Amino acid sequence: MVRSFLRDTDFSYAEAREVFELAGRYKRLRSAGRLDILKGQSWGLLFFKKSTRTRLSFEAGVYELGGHPMMINADDLQLSRGETVEDTAKIMGRFLHGIVIRAFEQSVVDDFAKYSGLPVVNALTDLLHPCQSYTDMFTMMEHFGKGEISVDSIKGRKFVFFGDTACNMAYSLALAGSMFGVEVVLCGPEEFRPGKELDELFADAGLKKGYTFTSDPVLAAKGADVLYTDVWVSMGKEDERARRIEKMSAYQVNEKLFKHANRGAIFMHCLPAHSGEEVSEGVLRGNRSIVFDQAENRLHVQKAIISLLARKNSV
Ligand code: CP
Ligand code: NVA
Repeated sequence: MVRSFLRDTDFSYAEAREVFELAGRYKRLRSAGRLDILKGQSWGLLFFKKSTRTRLSFEAGVYELGGHPMMINADDLQLSRGETVEDTAKIMGRFLHGIVIRAFEQSVVDDFAKYSGLPVVNALTDLLHPCQSYTDMFTMMEHFGKGEISVDSIKGRKFVFFGDTACNMAYSLALAGSMFGVEVVLCGPEEFRPGKELDELFADAGLKKGYTFTSDPVLAAKGADVLYTDVWVSMGKEDERARRIEKMSAYQVNEKLFKHANRGAIFMHCLPAHSGEEVSEGVLRGNRSIVFDQAENRLHVQKAIISLLARKNSV
């Protein structure tokens, strides 16, 4: 069976550690030049949604691994005129060596993996964003390990996600965090608490539920090592903007909330940020914020994810 990376738990703990180790090596050795791991290969980068970080880092990453990245806007394909996902995936399987996909439904990335016969990387769906959560674990290891990439440096850390706790980032961070022994707390309004699909993701992966939920931001921030947030209005939820902003305004990550956290606590955000909504300008731009390290690390971690898949699948 061809191995893909569709959910955070698709790699075993040992494989995920390999990803982090490799990402550290790629980061250190980036200036040494282009690698030949994907020599002669074309990887499709298929996007149904907008993106800045993901599309740029995958395009640069596939190139740096020696491959040819093909940026594909889903609107440009016959798919947008009614050709099926199944047929599109089968066609891609005849031309390409791997596909990176950003989609709305998780079923689209699952179906591309099923029908293309290629390794597929989930570059965000409404359900999950595993490339970002792995990057965030890596960035936390780098920060708390003072440059050294060690799983032990994040084990037992209190990690709190504020805001829309039923979104892709909250789910992926809960899964990835609990794989690495992080104490994950999801904090937001009751109305946007995690759905049963998150518990199913844990159960399907054979993991016990690895997070707690609270709607009390002060309680959540107490003793936290990481305060994390994401936009309150995810792609595809624009119609709910007014209601979401009203319900989530009590969950802004700001200087006042940080007062309850541990000394040395850091701020993280997958970006793009809406300053003044989910995070105050002072926290976003302040010295506790490591958001641009997170963004840069997307490149190194995704190169490692693709390399591992290429090796496992011998493509
Ligand atoms: N964090 C993230 O995935 O950013 P983009 O939407 O810009 O790719
Ligand atoms: N939850 C956000 C993440 C963006 C990277 C969204 O889906 O729009």
